[in-house]
Amino acid sequence: MKKSIVYEIMETKSSMYLSQFRLWLCFIITTLVSLSSSTRWYDDHISLKEIHAEETFHFPKNFLFGTASSAYQYEGAYLTDGKTLSNWDVFTNISGKIADGSHGKVAVDHYHRYPGDLDLMEDLGVNSYRLSLSWARILPKGRFGDVNMGGIDHYNRMINDILKTGIEPFVTLTHYDIPQELEYRYGSWLNPQIREDFEHYANICFRHFGDRVKFWSTFNEPNVQVILGYRTGTYPPSRCSKPFGNCSCGDSYIEPLVAAHNIILSHLAAVNLYRTKFQEQQRGQIGIVMNTIWFEPISDSLADRLAADRAQAFYLTWFLDPVVFGRYPREMREILGDDLPEFTKDDLKSSKNALDFIGINQYTSRYAKDCLHSVCEPGKGGSRAEGFVYANALKDGLRLGEPVGMEEMLMYATERYKNITLYVTENGFGENNTGVLLNDYQRVKFMSNYLDALKRAMRKGADVRGYFAWSLLDNFEWISGYTIRFGMYHVDFSTQERTPRLSASWYKNFIFQHRALSKDDWCLKQKEDTNFFLI
Ligand code: NOJ
Repeated sequence: MKKSIVYEIMETKSSMYLSQFRLWLCFIITTLVSLSSSTRWYDDHISLKEIHAEETFHFPKNFLFGTASSAYQYEGAYLTDGKTLSNWDVFTNISGKIADGSHGKVAVDHYHRYPGDLDLMEDLGVNSYRLSLSWARILPKGRFGDVNMGGIDHYNRMINDILKTGIEPFVTLTHYDIPQELEYRYGSWLNPQIREDFEHYANICFRHFGDRVKFWSTFNEPNVQVILGYRTGTYPPSRCSKPFGNCSCGDSYIEPLVAAHNIILSHLAAVNLYRTKFQEQQRGQIGIVMNTIWFEPISDSLADRLAADRAQAFYLTWFLDPVVFGRYPREMREILGDDLPEFTKDDLKSSKNALDFIGINQYTSRYAKDCLHSVCEPGKGGSRAEGFVYANALKDGLRLGEPVGMEEMLMYATERYKNITLYVTENGFGENNTGVLLNDYQRVKFMSNYLDALKRAMRKGADVRGYFAWSLLDNFEWISGYTIRFGMYHVDFSTQERTPRLSASWYKNFIFQHRALSKDDWCLKQKEDTNFFLI
């Protein structure tokens, strides 16, 4: 009898010691991880003190850490399983359009190799993957033809595999690429018909994938798409007029406004459809992803400060104000007058708060200089189409430092759009293709500085719920072809071999640390359990 009491006491004590031991072990591991990160390879290059200064900040447990990609830049398989040509397939085929004469016919062959790429993501520890669907794979002839079940089956398999890996798909309906059929038939974004096509496409995607996809964005960077497609003519459909570019046809003043208007109407149609037919049952969120530039006034003068506001109006709020407030920004209305298309009463019905979140692609900042009240050097921008602002990266020969812009941009969106949910849907660093470049400490420095700025914005109250690194892999960088590399994994384009760079280990470690420090993690639970036991 006595013996068993002694045993019980011993057992109780030993489990007490065990719990204390586990707690200490946990503490030691977390400390070692932090210490090891501060004495690693990149120590010479980045100020990890800065990272540690932010350590009191804990990302919420369900914060999305991911990597981002797009169909044309990654998939390849350009005519596989029933897909037909997209506008980018056709555009890259025109000689002289792409820096190295390349195309996305094979790209990084993600169409066939995505299972291996998901393994890489799993190894990084990301919990989300931002990808886009190829419209031409799902509807090769738009609404004028059948749904291509080859495309639907592929994305069904892929979405299931993403989820099986424990990763949340964050899906963009169109990331610059559309079926070429729509260009040939009616001039795509210049024609209001595109809205019907986009709605039809969105309906098919929500119907086939919406039971599993909980994050939708309608467009990726429509501002870039219209500025480069219809003002400078450097992206398809290569339309522009002088002095903005050298195209065989187009009107750089009017067409970007028309294309943007049709994109906004298409976004509204898709959101309205999702909200009325799918959202309640599928319980997802829908938003739009914008390219953002932080415009810093080049001087303290009122003129330059107003110029910075105009720059945002002509770049970002051009798209966001209509879908949140139902009208174009004041600065645009004042300068463009009747050139700006109007919303009808019908359009406006669905146009208030037609966003659950804004996706912020943030890479860069510019100085904004007034060209409305001041004289700007000719040929340096600052036209009426750009809101009479000259935007430049340099001031007195010096570059605007990094990461100026991330915190400011997130706070700007938070204030203007009343604390709307934000996701940083892209941020990353491109390097010229000069060798293998596995030691990409500049990318590490860039991303860690931007993440610090993101944390500062969250501390100030910005409702940021995710961060996606652009990109997991080197890939097809639009008109730069394969000459610029953005990957945390190097890709040998001839063998398709993927090799991790420094940034891959850094991002993995970053995510691990922030998971370990997040509020309701395993260690803290253990601590609570142990405390309970000791009482
Ligand atoms: C933004 C675009 O969405 C993406 O397609 C592009 O590759 C990256 N920026 C890098 O330029």
